[in-house]
Amino acid sequence: MTTAQEARPSTPINADGLLQGAGKLWFIVAALGQGAFIAFILAFYGARTATGDFEGWNEKQLIDGHIAGDDAGNAMFAVHVLLAAVITLGGLLQLMPALRRAFPALHRWTGRAFLVLAYVMALSGAWLTLVRGTFLSEVSAVAILIDAVLILVFASLAWRDAAARRIDSHRRWAMRTFMAVSGVWFLRVGLMGWVVLNQGPVGLNETLSGPTDIVLVFGCYLIPLALLEIYFAAQRAATAPPKILAALMVLAATAFTAVGVFGTVAFMWAPHL
Ligand code: HEM
Repeated sequence: MTTAQEARPSTPINADGLLQGAGKLWFIVAALGQGAFIAFILAFYGARTATGDFEGWNEKQLIDGHIAGDDAGNAMFAVHVLLAAVITLGGLLQLMPALRRAFPALHRWTGRAFLVLAYVMALSGAWLTLVRGTFLSEVSAVAILIDAVLILVFASLAWRDAAARRIDSHRRWAMRTFMAVSGVWFLRVGLMGWVVLNQGPVGLNETLSGPTDIVLVFGCYLIPLALLEIYFAAQRAATAPPKILAALMVLAATAFTAVGVFGTVAFMWAPHL
């Protein structure tokens, strides 16, 4: 059978390969950055929690962290921050096709765990924001709460499609869930990438409400989600130009992600270890 693409005169560029390669490269950079996030959470929060040094959480600049006498808030913070390492690892494992192909049963179980943890993270984060009152500014609280709602909706749709064996649709919702869950990581990468590129905190302030802050608190999930939709659309496209354009956008995002990962590790996490 001749496909529409084979019938067209061939271009010197393998557009599908380029798009796939750009996606893989982004994932490798993101996996390194999320690996560093996991290592930081375990080394900083994990070590202090395991030894009962709960006040030690506040050795890093936090909004609330540990508050003497607030047992419920401290317990919720501990659950939230420690499960952050588990869900980040689970998300990375789910997106590795080789692992998925080699161990399909493991993929199903880590997938269920990832989606349950997505609910737990969104709900515990919303509790910390709304009940404990942990937020820097109203605009940043609204932004992160919208991310929580998106996580709950996307995870539910990913679960529904997996149960109904609609695999293509499940894959798309699962990847959207991954992007929304990674929003808080993207926020750190976005802030530090911006600071590194501008050699300073241009448009940022102490309460996450400066002009750049506002772009980033919403953009930390909306921009990755928009790029993901462009990537999906380019995969479906019948011609090479949209694929090449999307690949270039993903490569630009990869370069920015790499700068942001460098910034988070060098200036946000390593100084606390
Ligand atoms: C789903 C993925 C999420 C991950 C991986 C995650 C990760 C983290 C981490 C690592 C911290 C510790 C703070 C730090 O060291 O910078 C934290 C704190 C916090 N998170 Fe999340 N979080 C997620 C989702 C959310 C959501 C959806 C909300 C709100 C709706 C939220 C609200 C909070 C709050 C209020 C704190 C306490 C900050 C403080 O006391 O300074 N998180 N989170």
